[in-house]
Amino acid sequence: MTVTARAHTNIALIKYWGKSDPQLIIPANSSISMTLDQFYTDTSVDFDPQLTADSFSLDGQEQSGAALQKLSKFMDLVRQRAGHNTFARITSTNHVPTAAGLASSASAYAALALAATRAAGLQLSNKDLTRIARRGSGSASRSIDGGYVIWHRGTDDATSFAEPLPVAPDLDLRMLAVVLDHQPKKLSSRSGMANTVATSPYFPAWAKSSEVAAAAMQAALLAGDFDQIGRLAERSAMMMHATNMAAEPPFTYFNPETLATLDYVHALRDQGMPVYATIDAGPNVKLICPAVNAEDLADLFRQRLGKPVVICAPGPAARVLTTAEMEANAHA
Ligand code: DP6
Repeated sequence: MTVTARAHTNIALIKYWGKSDPQLIIPANSSISMTLDQFYTDTSVDFDPQLTADSFSLDGQEQSGAALQKLSKFMDLVRQRAGHNTFARITSTNHVPTAAGLASSASAYAALALAATRAAGLQLSNKDLTRIARRGSGSASRSIDGGYVIWHRGTDDATSFAEPLPVAPDLDLRMLAVVLDHQPKKLSSRSGMANTVATSPYFPAWAKSSEVAAAAMQAALLAGDFDQIGRLAERSAMMMHATNMAAEPPFTYFNPETLATLDYVHALRDQGMPVYATIDAGPNVKLICPAVNAEDLADLFRQRLGKPVVICAPGPAARVLTTAEMEANAHA
């Protein structure tokens, strides 16, 4: 039986950057994200006793080599859990600019965790799903639930999980994705963060202060304090990128347009506009603002940079698609 699941991407307000256990993907600090309604991945999984290996098609392209191997290793976890050895056919469609710092691995592994466990006959709780998704890609643990999510650092497989966070009822944020660059990032998050953990003297300070920032962010979300949310989010991103610049060899995901965009954010803020920025493992900038300012800000940035800006609201949790939805998808 084929099961198709949809999971939305998330963007971290308090970043995850660095692992204390690379094998189990236990992070050095807790992180907090907003799930985005506009970007998602649909993944179908079909376990078939006729197959002699897993197969994986991404956006219509049959995958091989490292991409297939990584996925197959993840499928082994699901097989182990389900207690069988059957291979699967996996088909994935990304409604996200792949690997351009818009977190496609988060939605990818969250959708796969849900589709694969269901197709294997397992009915896991969301908490358990976040622990499995985490093994594919750390940030994927935050794409099982919708809205605002915390991934608790934890110390082992059982205690490192994600769950939704309560926020003020009148909190109405938007995340604006300024798409400066569609190209896959030059350095994956996985290798970038490993290099930083191993060589950046700023890393211990980053991990320690992020834990404090995560607690402050929880309080700010609960209070619906936009300025505090924005300030903490922008600072978390800047601190993460500062650890990379202090690594050996030093590196950065910023390009000149990233800096120009940041400059414009600061100029607008000086003029009283409520807007903050965050940046992941790529040059693209995401803006954080109250919903009422989203359209005006998107227009300002489109005019200024001549680049697409996508307005995202908090997105839903991962879910299994119905047969009717799958058919509609196939004909789209
Ligand atoms: C900058 O989750 O892609 O987006 O666990 O090695 O797969 P792996 O890394 P990944 O890293 C995400 C890093 C980030 C920040 C974040 O999403 O918290």
